[in-house]
Amino acid sequence: MGFQETYGREPDGVWHAPGRVNLIGEHTDYNDGFVLPFALRQGVTVAAARRDDGVFELRSLQSRSTTEVTDPTPGSVDGWAAYAAGVVWSLREAGYQVGGASLLIDADLPQGAGLSSSAALECAVAVALCDLYGIEVPRPALARIAQRAENDFVGVPCGIMDQSASLLCTEDHALFLDCRSGLSAQAPLDLTGLTLLVIDTRAEHELVDGGYADRRTACEKAAELLGVPALRDVTDLAEALSRLGDPVLRRRTQHVVTENHRVEATVGLLRAGAVGEVGALLTASHLSLRDQFEVSWPEADVAVEESVRAGARGARMVGGGFGGSVIALVPTARAERVREAVTEAYARRGWAEPRFLDATPSAGARRLR
Ligand code: GLA
Repeated sequence: MGFQETYGREPDGVWHAPGRVNLIGEHTDYNDGFVLPFALRQGVTVAAARRDDGVFELRSLQSRSTTEVTDPTPGSVDGWAAYAAGVVWSLREAGYQVGGASLLIDADLPQGAGLSSSAALECAVAVALCDLYGIEVPRPALARIAQRAENDFVGVPCGIMDQSASLLCTEDHALFLDCRSGLSAQAPLDLTGLTLLVIDTRAEHELVDGGYADRRTACEKAAELLGVPALRDVTDLAEALSRLGDPVLRRRTQHVVTENHRVEATVGLLRAGAVGEVGALLTASHLSLRDQFEVSWPEADVAVEESVRAGARGARMVGGGFGGSVIALVPTARAERVREAVTEAYARRGWAEPRFLDATPSAGARRLR
């Protein structure tokens, strides 16, 4: 991928970490709840070589900038390189001795499409550095190290879902993750006869913006008022809602509690081999994110409505919200009709043409060579 041309030597290895689609379980991870993501085939590839002068040199095929840093500290690196440099910092903070490296990064995941290009970058760099320096970290712990890079180095208060998905997913499965205990199980995602269509709504999302942090704060406030460690612990929803005076906090709580139940119901259906039945839960999740959690955006709402009208079993926005992608679960015979319906609906409104991707549940981060 051009490492030789860039650095004048062969890399020591090449690693890949995927982006993700969350089948269901949105805004539940930082409430200690459940999520059910799967890894995409697309992601971030890193070719890397050790170097003994202690320098990290970061280059990407998607950007002209080169970053060189020896001892990255929060605030010292900007832009995309911060996600990579943050991993070096976070590994060292966790007590691991990482030396220098030359890295060349390539991504085939659209940025800002809500498919976790940032987590894929962090995880690709994390597995590369661990291999280069013979560091053995269990994957769940490595996910926390990558999350810390994003939380404390880049400054985005994301939960643990995206990094866990990128590191722990397996082919043909979704990852059922309990974000409190960190325990996970693989749920079979057999798409025979079905297509999981990812619709990039072309409205870019940015977690660095305030909306995400604001939702997180509201959830913490609600849990505090209810006297529970996290919204995960609410068992009697009606009773909890009656105790919250603020209608906004009531809506946020309603979403988180019902979404956790939808994740568990979805896992039950996947284990029963009834993937098609999951559609109704996807649409219910979307309505809850739109009306209760209020993180949807117009392009997503139209994509969901048009997909369902054109024959999808269900559809929902994925990721943090305020932009990004929608997934639609569609009988494969109708996939073309759904694509056309969404494309036409966008054209009628004068919106940018949506982009489509067939999602294939794929393996998590790994060494390619
Ligand atoms: C973003 C964050 C995740 C999660 C989702 C919402 O993708 O990075 O941790 O909170 O939003 O489910």
